[in-house]
Amino acid sequence: MPADQDPKPAPSQHWDPARYQRNAGFVPVLGAPVLDLLAPQPGERILDLGCGDGVLTEKLVAAGASVVGVDASAEQIAAARARGLDARVMSGEALTFVGGFDAVFSNAALHWMKQADAVIDGVWRALEPGGRFVAEMGGGANVAAITGALVAALDRRGLDGAGAVPWFFPSVEDYRARLERRGFRVRTIGLIERPTPLPGAMAGWLETFAESFIRRLPEPDRAAYIAEVETALAPRLRNAQGQWHADYVRLRFAAEKL
Ligand SMILES: C[S@@+](CC[C@H](N)C(=O)[O-])C[C@H]1O[C@@H](n2cnc3c(N)ncnc32)[C@H](O)[C@@H]1O
Repeated sequence: MPADQDPKPAPSQHWDPARYQRNAGFVPVLGAPVLDLLAPQPGERILDLGCGDGVLTEKLVAAGASVVGVDASAEQIAAARARGLDARVMSGEALTFVGGFDAVFSNAALHWMKQADAVIDGVWRALEPGGRFVAEMGGGANVAAITGALVAALDRRGLDGAGAVPWFFPSVEDYRARLERRGFRVRTIGLIERPTPLPGAMAGWLETFAESFIRRLPEPDRAAYIAEVETALAPRLRNAQGQWHADYVRLRFAAEKL
């Protein structure tokens, strides 16, 4: 079933800015190429969609743009506001802006929004004619090994592992078609394989990003579940020196509102 027809509510995922900085500080750092693709200009009005704690939003401001950040997490927005940013709690699946933006930027957030067409619709409405939509998200086989291990370990417990997957990782063809259907001209779009070194053990990544799986289990059973998933992944994602990697594949694109 296409992601945006999924009738189930999004599984719960909670964003803790301190935990995010500790385990996922690489996310905004590795967002540099998509910032380059956006090439923000002084005076431009830019919406940062799924801005998180605002590390990249700050870079847009530093480029001289006038920036609004939105994110569904009140905790992340509080952290972004603490940086002095104009940041607002809003779902990317229900954007309320009508015009006013020269560009919409997004890093590592769109794959959390399963109603992809609603997101693209909201971005289209927020942009002025000719405005740019420039983003990077998980795509294709992003974190396929990690997802497989998380799902299998829930299935082994008699639970619906596939039903806990919170992400939408589209192919190039899928996302291009959605953008073009809504009236965007796609300037560039492609998948990038990017195995990503983690700052610590896989458990840190799982605790930060895989809560929708972990929360299917009662609290006392969670540590054993995480340990089991780590053990299953070690042969593929931990090297001889003990360094963990996540099997990231990114979808990066730049499109223009016709
Ligand atoms: C991995 S973080 C990326 C944050 C930031 N863009 C960065 O590069 O560090 C993903 C963000 O997407 C946000 N998010 C998830 N679902 C969302 C939704 N439906 N609407 C808006 N933001 C959402 C989360 O709250 C989280 O802050």
